[in-house]
Amino acid sequence: MIKAMEDKSDNRTEELSKIKDEVVNLKESPLYKERIKNKVFPVIGEGSHHAKIMFIGEAPGKNEAETGRPFCGAAGKVLDKLLASISLDRKEVYVTNIVKDRPTSNRDPLPEEIKLYAPFLDRQIDIIQPKVIATLGRFSMDYIMKKFGLESELQSISKMHGRMFDAKAEYGTVKIVPLYHPAVALYNGSEMETLKKDFAILKEI
Ligand code: URA
Repeated sequence: MIKAMEDKSDNRTEELSKIKDEVVNLKESPLYKERIKNKVFPVIGEGSHHAKIMFIGEAPGKNEAETGRPFCGAAGKVLDKLLASISLDRKEVYVTNIVKDRPTSNRDPLPEEIKLYAPFLDRQIDIIQPKVIATLGRFSMDYIMKKFGLESELQSISKMHGRMFDAKAEYGTVKIVPLYHPAVALYNGSEMETLKKDFAILKEI
């Protein structure tokens, strides 16, 4: 098993590219039809294939589906500011979502959509092997906490944000840091300070 994991991480670009091909051809997804109809793209993920920190959002929005890039709209600008506040550049981290296609009209992802796309996220984690996983919003927080056996620690995001949890991945230890989704700062400007404070924990790690 360990050997298989090593092999995977040694061919990161190739393995990630396989994921891309599979998602592009994910015809069994109900979101696939929408993607074709609207002439938009799936959003796989972007950043360093050797990133120490992986950020996981929910699902692509309109701008993301039009470009195929994660967090490139208004919430992405907030994310860039937050990264800059801890002197990190997008190129140094890896940014992705649980659901790789845009749910119609920006609705919340459905449980069955999370179930269908999560195995791709699981593989991205195993390939990139981040030391820190920062979840953006409650959907990725719920998924990641459960995935790493931390379900009993789960509370509402208002109680979880900015805290750090130790977990064990097959490739080694990983710290999980639940964060508010950057879009909260678009609806409520004062939340930017909360987000900045929470991001500071990533710098400490
Ligand atoms: N919101 C998300 O959760 N992900 C994106 O990529 C963009 C907005």
